[in-house]
Amino acid sequence: MKNNNIILMGFMGVGKGSLARELAKQTSRIAIDTDDLIESLENTTIKKIFKKKGEDYFRAREKEIARWLKKSVKNSIISIGGGFYQVGNLHKIGHVIYLESSFDSILKRINACENAESKLQKRPLLQDMQKAKKLMQERHPKYLASADTVVHTAGKDSAAIADEIIHLLEL
Ligand code: S3P
Repeated sequence: MKNNNIILMGFMGVGKGSLARELAKQTSRIAIDTDDLIESLENTTIKKIFKKKGEDYFRAREKEIARWLKKSVKNSIISIGGGFYQVGNLHKIGHVIYLESSFDSILKRINACENAESKLQKRPLLQDMQKAKKLMQERHPKYLASADTVVHTAGKDSAAIADEIIHLLEL
């Protein structure tokens, strides 16, 4: 497995971050999140980056982070932003797992959180639900094309998905 990293890919709100933390705990690895890296690099929030500098600027930062991950990160669980797959060649960073779900299950998952409002607010591409659903449908084949492994997540909690991945990849 390249660099021995595991990459968690999927649409916004599918639960990549919590799953990364769960998997990291269970496999004694470190969890890294590309949005967190960009926020510290820019010393501001994703929401403000989109608003002040635009999406293209954000995508360029993602490419920079991808180069750094490929060169410098090993043995880690990496959760990536929903559009990060566009950097291309994710396989060079690690084993790519597509966390597949339905739009309704994702909304259900977000709405079940205590901080649902802030989870929605902080995501610029999750403001208009019609547009977000369309974006998810457009991305699905691209996620599939970028994935080494597909895991269905609807109705499962992080611990169950982590167990499934540990079993599948023999971690
Ligand atoms: C985006 C997903 C977000 C974040 C940014 C853009 C996308 O990450 O990178 O708001 O294009 O799908 P999450 O998938 O962690 O919400």
